[in-house]
Amino acid sequence: MFRLESKINTKGAEFLRNRDEYLPILAKFKDTLSKVRQGGPPLLVARHKERGKLLARERIDLLVDKNTPFIELSTLAAYDLYNNEFPSAGIVTGIGVIHGKETMIIANDATVKGGTYIKETIKKHVRAQEIAMENHLPCVYLVDSGGVFLPEQANVFPDKYDFGRFFFNQARLSAKGIPQIAVVMGSCTAGGAYVPAMSDETIIVRNQGTIFIGGPPLVKAATGAEVTAEELGGAEVHTSISGVADHMAENDVHAIQICRNIFESIQRHEYQHLETIPVEEPFYNAEELYGILPIDLKKPVDSREILARIVDGSKFHEFKERYAPTLVTGFAHIMGYPVGILANNGVLFGETALKGAHFVQLCTNRNIPILFLQNVTGFIVGKEYERGGIARDGAKFVHAVANADVPKFTIIFGGSFGAGNYAMAGRAYEPRFLFMYPNSKISVMGGEQAANVLITVKEDQLHAQGKTLSGEEREKMRQTILKKYEDEGSAYFSTARLWDDGIIDPTDTRKILGLSIAISQNRKYEKTKYGVFRM
Ligand code: COA
Repeated sequence: MFRLESKINTKGAEFLRNRDEYLPILAKFKDTLSKVRQGGPPLLVARHKERGKLLARERIDLLVDKNTPFIELSTLAAYDLYNNEFPSAGIVTGIGVIHGKETMIIANDATVKGGTYIKETIKKHVRAQEIAMENHLPCVYLVDSGGVFLPEQANVFPDKYDFGRFFFNQARLSAKGIPQIAVVMGSCTAGGAYVPAMSDETIIVRNQGTIFIGGPPLVKAATGAEVTAEELGGAEVHTSISGVADHMAENDVHAIQICRNIFESIQRHEYQHLETIPVEEPFYNAEELYGILPIDLKKPVDSREILARIVDGSKFHEFKERYAPTLVTGFAHIMGYPVGILANNGVLFGETALKGAHFVQLCTNRNIPILFLQNVTGFIVGKEYERGGIARDGAKFVHAVANADVPKFTIIFGGSFGAGNYAMAGRAYEPRFLFMYPNSKISVMGGEQAANVLITVKEDQLHAQGKTLSGEEREKMRQTILKKYEDEGSAYFSTARLWDDGIIDPTDTRKILGLSIAISQNRKYEKTKYGVFRM
């Protein structure tokens, strides 16, 4: 493979200006992350510790093998929602290594409203189980939760992907031979009681963990009987009388030790072999991305410059370099793993879509993972292109991506707009993971375009009534729409709503992608079958 030659002058004014603009964006992201990672209000964190309990992230640290990475997912879920009273949506999810096995860990944060579930908590929990299903990862549930956040019951209880989905997923995961282990370190009330009850194996902490379908207040209201939480559903009861739990632990540390011991007997079922090569760091420094990444999305960025700072040795075997240049396609290695890459380099034309579909077929035929690097305004519009059948060509690309059954990974490094989001493996196309950069933007179209469309529609309406829009009204309308798109298009807005698996520091891309590909090897890649490509 040839090494990419960067054309960036890292001492030039443009690079330095871009970096100066980027660094505050990065600082804001890191600052937000560290605030959110503190969990609930300081008073409740202190009370939690006084009870002799470890915090959710401390529990995870102890659970995973020493000196192994933990990929935390969607840390900023529910960010800027509910007056920011649900940091990380009250749950920590991510993939860590336990006795050498990549494992999905789902840990309630009891310092956040008693570890209760709002819509985003549920979305995050279900998404973690979906990742476990797609990649055949054992699941550990570190349970410490008051169940549903009752004021939000209408948004969390009965729908297909609501609270009940957890237990459905546990049953289906277990049936596939994917181990389900629960560690009860606090409350498991009402529906929450099913998390340990549906697990393959369950641990409960003495004088701390409780499992019951109805808590003491409910029992009193229903039957008049007064009973303590411990008598109703503590560790002694469940490990010696009811049999709902299998192991009793003395405290958090002991419970985690038992959980680790369980992993000693867990076997890996199948494994996807990939031909790897020795890892080589990129020739170009990843930190240079800060001076290159697009902040003003109108400014074109050669996506090869991004690739040169992500792939092994900055080496890239480009496919169809001279054809349809607004989509860069080719093969490379990331942390030694082979990968096919599609990276946007401008608007999508008919021939770009055909090149993309062709390249996806190459990857699925060779059975190697595909990386999509998104910075896309969408497909080209206009009479000439419609007549040329842009919709049909775009459909071929979308068809290829939708059916590609090798693992797909998506990184949004700039804009993600319109059907470009779909063709480039947006969330609906089931990439195994989708991450965004802090500068990136996502919406159905850019704010400017949306404003123009809506103003034109309004003007046509008024015109039919013999009226017109004044210059002032037009400008007011434009500003309102621009502001709305600016707010709703931000990476923070996306990640708060779980449209992605998290925002990442661009310099971590290589590490995260390497781990993601390694994780995907836990399940054999499916043979891709395509349907009808419209010709
Ligand atoms: N719905 C809404 N809010 C809840 C809640 C629930 N199910 N459970 C707890 N909270 C809130 C509390 O109101 C409190 O909010 P505040 O800080 O704004 O006042 C916060 O969570 C912490 O609760 P607190 O009781 O002080 O914490 P704790 O650590 O002593 O106890 C629980 C936590 C979960 C054991 C306890 O709150 C409890 O039993 N909750 C009810 C659980 C239940 O019956 N759930 C059924 C729903 S399926």
